[in-house]
Amino acid sequence: MSDFYRSILRPVLFSGLNADPEWLHVQTLRSLSWINSSDWLRSRLNHLYGFDSPRLSQSLWGLTFANPIGLAAGFDKDGVAANVWSSFGFGFAELGTVTFHAQPGNPQPRLFRLVEDLAALNRMGFNNQGAASLQSRLEQRSKGIPIGINLGKSKITPLEAAAEDYLGSFRLLKPLGDYFVVNVSSPNTPGLRSLQATDQLEPILSALQTENQSEKPLLVKIAPDLEFEDIAAIVDLAQRFQLSGIIATNTTIRRDGLKTQMIPATRKPITEEAGGISGAPVRERSTEVIRAIWKQTRGSLPIVGVGGVFSAEDAWEKITAGASLVQVYTGWIYEGPTMVKRILQGLEERLEQSGFESLQAAIGSSHNLAIKE
Ligand code: FNR
Repeated sequence: MSDFYRSILRPVLFSGLNADPEWLHVQTLRSLSWINSSDWLRSRLNHLYGFDSPRLSQSLWGLTFANPIGLAAGFDKDGVAANVWSSFGFGFAELGTVTFHAQPGNPQPRLFRLVEDLAALNRMGFNNQGAASLQSRLEQRSKGIPIGINLGKSKITPLEAAAEDYLGSFRLLKPLGDYFVVNVSSPNTPGLRSLQATDQLEPILSALQTENQSEKPLLVKIAPDLEFEDIAAIVDLAQRFQLSGIIATNTTIRRDGLKTQMIPATRKPITEEAGGISGAPVRERSTEVIRAIWKQTRGSLPIVGVGGVFSAEDAWEKITAGASLVQVYTGWIYEGPTMVKRILQGLEERLEQSGFESLQAAIGSSHNLAIKE
């Protein structure tokens, strides 16, 4: 099956038909939302793509994660396929980003493949049906893998009123998600990333934690483009507000080191195209950020690592750098539906080779080696 996707289907879709990436995404979600309501189809998928591995399971925030590989935010913004993700082997899935107000996002085209770089460029701008719509959809959901809900600020809400906006979504969705993420790191909503400054982040976290009363794990998702001192300040704040973890990282606004120079669909140089880059180009930086957070906290604050994971090796690097959980988005587009199973098999092999009893023992283990040496 993996060969079918990578050697036949992907070349046909990406090059032969040169299918518009957003069109393809919409079609994929349409099919998945259809599968979402069929127990039979989901069990067929699970048969093909699922992978059981007790050694990869862990307990975190009072939740059970059957494995550490999750779907990153942005793929299923409206939760139309919330029941399906476990059938592709994912141990958890993050829905959203959802905003309090429904919004169309930025004008199209707004999603591009950078095939030579194993990357994507997107400036979707939180296109989503709004928190109330996600609420009614999730009320129909059957219980399954842990579901995270990623919250963003509505475009029409001024930055000064951001806390109220996040809070409005959180109030609606609180009973329906297993963990929540404050997204202040998308490059595609004007000014959003300025909310990463601690004086701006503080009132948002304060409002959410007051409402939360420690009932649900609350995390913050950060950009890869922050300086280390800014990351350190966010980590301090996260600890002060007793957040449950940090998601590192979102897409990058950097353009250096790319092979792709021109976007064929717009005929513009990549340096003139707004948006965030995901996939292989963010891999190293996101791992560096994970490493820095783990070092600062000595592993006391769980990290969800995301950015450029395509293989077991990539996931292992993030886990041993300090990530308790790992998410994928762009890798799944390039590698296809067998990706999670391949990663899980590879992780099991690495546990075996390194002599770790469990996944938990491997988290942050590259730091310990460095200390011993
Ligand atoms: C994203 N990402 C994202 N993140 C987020 O917090 N909210 C969102 O709505 C989106 N939307 C989104 C759309 C598209 C098309 C892409 C490619 C990415 C970022 C994503 O969750 C992840 O942090 C980065 O893409 C890095 O991981 P990958 O893609 O390299 O595995």
